[in-house]
Amino acid sequence: MASTPPPEIERVLFSEEQVASRIREVAAEISAKYRGRDVKLIAVLKGAVFFLTALAREITIPVKVDFLAISSFGNATPGMVRIAKDLDDPIQDEDVLLIEDIVDTGFTTRFLLQTLAGRAPRSIGICTLLDRTVRRIVQVPVDFRCFEIPDRFVVGCGLDYKQHYRNLGYIAVMNQKDIAK
Ligand code: IMP
Ligand code: MG
Repeated sequence: MASTPPPEIERVLFSEEQVASRIREVAAEISAKYRGRDVKLIAVLKGAVFFLTALAREITIPVKVDFLAISSFGNATPGMVRIAKDLDDPIQDEDVLLIEDIVDTGFTTRFLLQTLAGRAPRSIGICTLLDRTVRRIVQVPVDFRCFEIPDRFVVGCGLDYKQHYRNLGYIAVMNQKDIAK
């Protein structure tokens, strides 16, 4: 049973039921596309872990999972990120699916894509829970997307505001006045 949203939430964009049902649909697409193969789901800590977990449970083909962590060099240089914790295992000759919480400007995803592509995987795809194409600066090929969202800051399903709200089961827009600039 979904709980009442906290007061910092302006409105719910996608309910827990909508999120779960859309994840099931995308998991079915993935299971069909990779049928007969193993797929390795790779997520960046921490935001995408929630989505990866929900997605993996609905995928009906064999999956492996691995994680990495990145840290940015600050806001002055968007996209300037480095690997803070690397994957546990090589991805050479594997079918890799990069799992993202949100593709916004595209800088983070492009960095990850280039980094992983340099390790000679058999294939590499991108699957994101949220896509905010209106803010895209660098183009990245999104293969699977659950939802397109408007240009508003959102939380829930792994997405945070100052490390909070990741555990909300729905995707919600935060009140502008509660977002300290
Ligand atoms: P990009 O490099 O601009 O595509 O940024 C992607 C990262 O920014 C995501 O992985 C999130 O951690 C963070 N981010 C972007 N938009 C939001 C949002 O609306 N809510 C929470 N985090 C966000
Ligand atoms: Mg974040």
